Amino acid sequence: MIDIHSHILPGVDDGSKSMEMTAEMLSRYAEEGIDRVICTPHQGRELHRPELIMQKLGETSSLASEYGITLYPGAEIYYYDGMVSDLKSGRLLTLNGTRHVLVEFSTRAELEYIPDVCYELSLEGYVPVVAHIERYFYLDKQAYAEIKNNGALIQVNASSFAKKEYLKTLSHLLKRDMVDFIASDCHSNGRRNVDFSSARKYVSKKFRRSYDKFFGDNNIFA
Ligand SMILES: [Fe+2]
Repeated sequence: MIDIHSHILPGVDDGSKSMEMTAEMLSRYAEEGIDRVICTPHQGRELHRPELIMQKLGETSSLASEYGITLYPGAEIYYYDGMVSDLKSGRLLTLNGTRHVLVEFSTRAELEYIPDVCYELSLEGYVPVVAHIERYFYLDKQAYAEIKNNGALIQVNASSFAKKEYLKTLSHLLKRDMVDFIASDCHSNGRRNVDFSSARKYVSKKFRRSYDKFFGDNNIFA
């Protein structure tokens, strides 16, 4: 199984702080039965450093293989004007070199253009994967539908299933089969570690559906 959203690479963003912390997070992945992880450090307007991300990926890969885990390159990109041209020039990373782009938005209500951005990315031949969509409280049901219709995929965080404020949105999306990925968005070996327990419990109880499908089509990325 694959996790498509992870801040496991050490010393590159606000995720893992050291190789030791990364090792503990890898151990959690192994316990969860996950054998492939797309590493998605933050990128944004003033934050590119693709070479550093690739370097850290190289440095961490052999440790990951000791846990039976293969790491792949990627990024979580905070949306900004000009993102498409930076994608084209290679300054921004897609998910394992595919056309899939993990994109994050502001949680502030004035930014309600997510469906339009998804449309723009689709026209350019990319497949936007909207990161932790449940956090954007300003979106309504119509916006979720537009986002899907405009060619985007939807990712939700496994940890959000443990938080009451997100359950209404998660339930709405799951009922309509609109969730494409449940991912860890792990940042550390502590509070924000790899933890799918609440998500597994919620999905199996409420939907009696195979949880594994939310880890995505294994052939898309790796
Ligand atoms: Fe993230």
